[in-house]
Amino acid sequence: METFILIIAGIYQEKGDLHYDGEDVSQLAHAWQCGQLAKINGASPQLQLAAWLHDIGHLLSKKEGTPTIDAYDDHHEQTGGNYLAKIFSSDVAQPVLMHVLAKRYLVTTDPDYRGVLSQDSIRSLKLQGGEMNILECEEFIAHPYARDAISLRKWDELGKNPNWEMPAKVNAIAELCNLAESCL
Ligand SMILES: [Fe+2]
Ligand SMILES: [Fe+2]
Repeated sequence: METFILIIAGIYQEKGDLHYDGEDVSQLAHAWQCGQLAKINGASPQLQLAAWLHDIGHLLSKKEGTPTIDAYDDHHEQTGGNYLAKIFSSDVAQPVLMHVLAKRYLVTTDPDYRGVLSQDSIRSLKLQGGEMNILECEEFIAHPYARDAISLRKWDELGKNPNWEMPAKVNAIAELCNLAESCL
């Protein structure tokens, strides 16, 4: 299992500088900020790790550039969540699998929520199905991991701050590895 952590570290080392059009921070900075927000808010180590890794599916994708500009949904929540489910418990994988559903739920149930989405998140919302219908909302909120997914989603929106300085890349990735090891 430690091998998987080295692979994850390698993914962020290699692709962490990736930067989507319409986002103010790199993938690694976004991951790091979401992890910090989870920690500050007293999340379990598993939910902190989910916050860190919720967008790993983008990095596992072979698609170049900014997928939403090409009207392409890379289904990164499924790619990433299914990948993490092979290594970690549902406490890590499920909030990742559900973070797009959480966005659709929040946009549907909170009229102000759309206003906090980044340009890239607004573009992807339509591709991901847009607002939920009543049945979809009920199914989502009844899921045992819905609350964790909503928490993660709120950190997701906040974790795009260009003025929040991240430690050196090597140190940020080391922090990720230590957290991941504690979740094995
Ligand atoms: Fe995402
Ligand atoms: Fe994200």
